[in-house]
Amino acid sequence: MHQHKIKLGIFGFGVVGQGLYQTIKQTKGLQVEVIKICVKNKSKKRLADKKLLTFNKSEILNNKEINVIVELTNDTEFAFEIVKEAIKRGKAVVTANKKMVAGHQKEIFDLQQKFHVPVLYEASSCGSIPIIRNLEEYYDNDSINAVEGIFNGATNYILTKIFDDNKSYSKALKEAQEKGFAETEPNMDVGGYDSKYKLCIIITHVFGVFVKPEQIFNYGIEKISDFDIKIAKEKNCKIKLIAFTRKIGNEIFGAVFPTFVKPDNILYSLENEYNGVVVEGAFSEKQFFLGKGAGSYPTGSAVLSDISALRYGYKYEYKKYFQDLNLKFKDDFLVEVYARSEHKNSIRKNDFASISEEYKSADNHFIIGKIRFSKLTTSSWIRKPHVNVLITPENKLENLN
Ligand SMILES: NC(=O)c1ccc[n+]([C@@H]2O[C@H](COP(=O)([O-])OP(=O)(O)OC[C@H]3O[C@@H](n4cnc5c(N)ncnc54)[C@H](OP(=O)(O)O)[C@@H]3O)[C@@H](O)[C@H]2O)c1
Repeated sequence: MHQHKIKLGIFGFGVVGQGLYQTIKQTKGLQVEVIKICVKNKSKKRLADKKLLTFNKSEILNNKEINVIVELTNDTEFAFEIVKEAIKRGKAVVTANKKMVAGHQKEIFDLQQKFHVPVLYEASSCGSIPIIRNLEEYYDNDSINAVEGIFNGATNYILTKIFDDNKSYSKALKEAQEKGFAETEPNMDVGGYDSKYKLCIIITHVFGVFVKPEQIFNYGIEKISDFDIKIAKEKNCKIKLIAFTRKIGNEIFGAVFPTFVKPDNILYSLENEYNGVVVEGAFSEKQFFLGKGAGSYPTGSAVLSDISALRYGYKYEYKKYFQDLNLKFKDDFLVEVYARSEHKNSIRKNDFASISEEYKSADNHFIIGKIRFSKLTTSSWIRKPHVNVLITPENKLENLN
């Protein structure tokens, strides 16, 4: 692969595929050539040369000239099949598909070790922010204590419109969809799934532990009410959907949760579709990465950066995994939350280890207190439509031991 010309076979020509195609066309001096693009729908009009298009995956996979496969479809299972087939044929892979990578991390890792073929996926985690390569290269010997951030542009856009422009949730969501920040199926974004997939991938490169999406609890922003927003403003906070992972001793915690954020937190001023990642190293202390987490060109440029890196033989070395840090993912810790209900007595007070604030009115009742995370996530009340839960500003996690 060193210094050879890169000949691409691309799967998918949607938002990211077209962004990549335009970025390649507009970047001078690239040793990159697009050989074929595989898509699904035969009746769609395309902004690419007809000769490049195919509807048959084998035309790319069996083409010996193609040395790099770029996987940019929105079909998770199809994407994984393509990645497996490509690796077995010795073709390097670049993908932006967070759901596929997060769901199959260990298999993708094993295949890379077995066939000595690189798979790069920078664009899958926070779009244009080069977080994976930084974790792999820059922080390879620094012990990281925590990573937290806003990993989803659509929800950040919605929360910005709600907080700064006093828009309703449904209006803000519609606007995010119209601008192309939110998926057509909004649950992926607003339910916190997209952030969770990115968190899984980031945990691998921060702590060297492969965590499956099912192991990480995600809570969305759908139930944030006018009352919650009023309380946030009274407490001089904004609400942000935060993905976090933290190491305490030999245990790692992680979750995606709407969180009250104070002005002294750098994520407070991160607005609209921007993503931000705070890395807290044991020695380097806090560092902050900011960038657009979605969109055609920002994501296309991250994909192109991975393609270029292949020219120099770049591959992830999964350094933290091989350092054998002996860390374990645990979904139980003590956390302080605000739990609000429109119905009286829906939230079980007895589930809390301690309560620091309680409020009751005719329409709303809330408790702020510390609770075991496992008790919270398995409680009978957390999923009720009239109940909403947020993590309090400091997000002070405590080990149960
Ligand atoms: N959009 C973003 O800002 C963004 C940011 C970071 C990561 N990502 C990830 O990047 C990937 C692509 O996202 P996108 O927004 O570009 O999606 P998209 O606009 O919906 O485009 C998906 C493309 O995949 C093609 N496709 C689907 N199934 C296929 C199949 N079986 N065979 C061949 N082609 C198939 C579609 O073909 P047709 O054109 O024929 O329908 C379409 O061109 C996703 O995994 C997404 O999570 C997206």
